[in-house]
Amino acid sequence: MNAAVSTQEDQKKAVVAAAQGAMTLNLAFIGVSGGFFEALASSGASVAELAKRAGADEGYTRRWCEAAFAFGLLDQAEGVYSLTDLGAAFRPSAPDSFMPFAVQSVLGAHMAERTATLLRTGERPGEKVLGERPSILPWFGPMLEANFGTFFERQILPVLQVFRALDERGGVAVDLGCGNGWYLRKLAARYPHVRGVGLDGFDENIRLATEAAARAGLSSRLSFRAGDIHDFTIGEPVSLIAMNRALHHVWDRKGEVFAKLRDALVPGGSAVIWEPRWPDDLATLRDPKRRPLAYQNLGEHVQGNHFLRPAEIEAAMREAGLSPETFLFAEGGEAVIVGTR
Ligand SMILES: C[S@@+](CC[C@H](N)C(=O)[O-])C[C@H]1O[C@@H](n2cnc3c(N)ncnc32)[C@H](O)[C@@H]1O
Repeated sequence: MNAAVSTQEDQKKAVVAAAQGAMTLNLAFIGVSGGFFEALASSGASVAELAKRAGADEGYTRRWCEAAFAFGLLDQAEGVYSLTDLGAAFRPSAPDSFMPFAVQSVLGAHMAERTATLLRTGERPGEKVLGERPSILPWFGPMLEANFGTFFERQILPVLQVFRALDERGGVAVDLGCGNGWYLRKLAARYPHVRGVGLDGFDENIRLATEAAARAGLSSRLSFRAGDIHDFTIGEPVSLIAMNRALHHVWDRKGEVFAKLRDALVPGGSAVIWEPRWPDDLATLRDPKRRPLAYQNLGEHVQGNHFLRPAEIEAAMREAGLSPETFLFAEGGEAVIVGTR
């Protein structure tokens, strides 16, 4: 066998494995979104019983079970389906759940399809593309929380002085583009004197954030409301304004946004901006840890956005009269820029 043939065969094997990986993740997304994994958590079930537990149609449930069995997400014996270890790991409630990979896979496919459709005209429909798939939107917040919540709690929260100072003041923190509100929940759980207000453009996120704060017993200190980042008013002095993966959504009006942040902050208060770090050197995107960022940036383009370099954020802060300091995490892949008034 000559080297070229062997290379092509190896490449084909890799492509087949990737295709089957995508199928596994698509099936896992149905299991997550349809509630099948959680419905099988305590005991196995027949198709009819599983359909009943998950509130799903029996015909669809049967086809999903067969496919999930084929891909090793389920076992089957005498018509009773049960979770394999792999299937159990996709339960949204599992520790270190694999759920985000399933959600990202289907969201990524949606964005790829939108990119392929729009690339001739250049149309960029904006934030609404996230809401185009009703099964994906409710999982967007939980996906981000699973990806970044523990990381925030362990790596960022204990390190940045700005959070401790907020607690000592008993100040108000505002989270702009708060998603399902996980950031304020983590902040308030660690620091007992912090109060928080979260704002997001999607009503669904506000509903999820309000419910989750109530479940965590934090409703007396945290509130959430629907609204546009460009129009927010808080009605009391604000000590900290956080934006997590939200600044790149409003970057086209950065001058206005930073002026608004500065004006809302008390003297000595801080804007705490967390963004994935778009690299200066494109070659670093080949690193398997960085690749997903490059893929995600296509979906961002559809939404009218693009990822940012910390230096650009620092410059915009300085222009608004805030003093920036950048903290890098995750081997330089994540940047938190603290701009103090
Ligand atoms: C990538 S998500 C991040 C969510 C959350 N901060 C997190 O880290 O999980 C960006 C969020 O910003 C919100 N958003 C984007 N533009 C907005 C605007 N102009 N006004 C209000 N919310 C906005 C979106 O609805 C979305 O929830």
